[in-house]
Amino acid sequence: MFMLMHIIHLLTVILWIGGLAFVTVIMLPIAINTKEPLQKVLSFQRVEHRFAKQARIYNVITGASGFVMLYINGWHHLLFTRQGLALTVMTMIWVFWFVMLWGLEPLIIRKMLDKMMKGEEKMDIDGVFRKMVKLHWVMMAVSLVAAAAGALTAHGYPII
Ligand code: HEM
Repeated sequence: MFMLMHIIHLLTVILWIGGLAFVTVIMLPIAINTKEPLQKVLSFQRVEHRFAKQARIYNVITGASGFVMLYINGWHHLLFTRQGLALTVMTMIWVFWFVMLWGLEPLIIRKMLDKMMKGEEKMDIDGVFRKMVKLHWVMMAVSLVAAAAGALTAHGYPII
């Protein structure tokens, strides 16, 4: 069971963070370099809507497989201890992602893109996209920290 969960955890993380990297380093620059404002928003909106849906599923599977591994091994006692630092970091980053994907993304980013599309408000579209790029790079860096924390947890590298 543990091995199965470990494989599911790892494969889901690959799809999730790999997809995020694709959006950040390929799709966003393509959208930004699109001259026509409506086309710019439209191309990004399509990708973001589609990927956000998948990312929510990846988030749940990563969390579920992670928590099952935790309980099988009785490692939940290690959360918030010095010994379980890497595990705690990974879990906290997952919680951050959970809030982003299930709360902030539908409430803030999706609504903002919809408004831009309908031209409801006068918006500095280039400024919004610059912020979006920064946000995506931060999210990617944070996710890579979680992946590194996962490797430390799985392979027991001494870190302190
Ligand atoms: C952003 C979310 C997460 C990412 C990116 C992530 C990533 C990873 C990675 C890359 C590994 C290493 C696998 C390997 O080296 O074979 C790992 C292992 C592990 N993860 Fe996560 N993880 C996340 C969330 C969680 C959560 C929420 C839990 C549970 C609370 C968790 C529990 C574990 C455990 C217990 C291992 C070690 C498995 C072992 O010892 O073989 N992870 N994770």
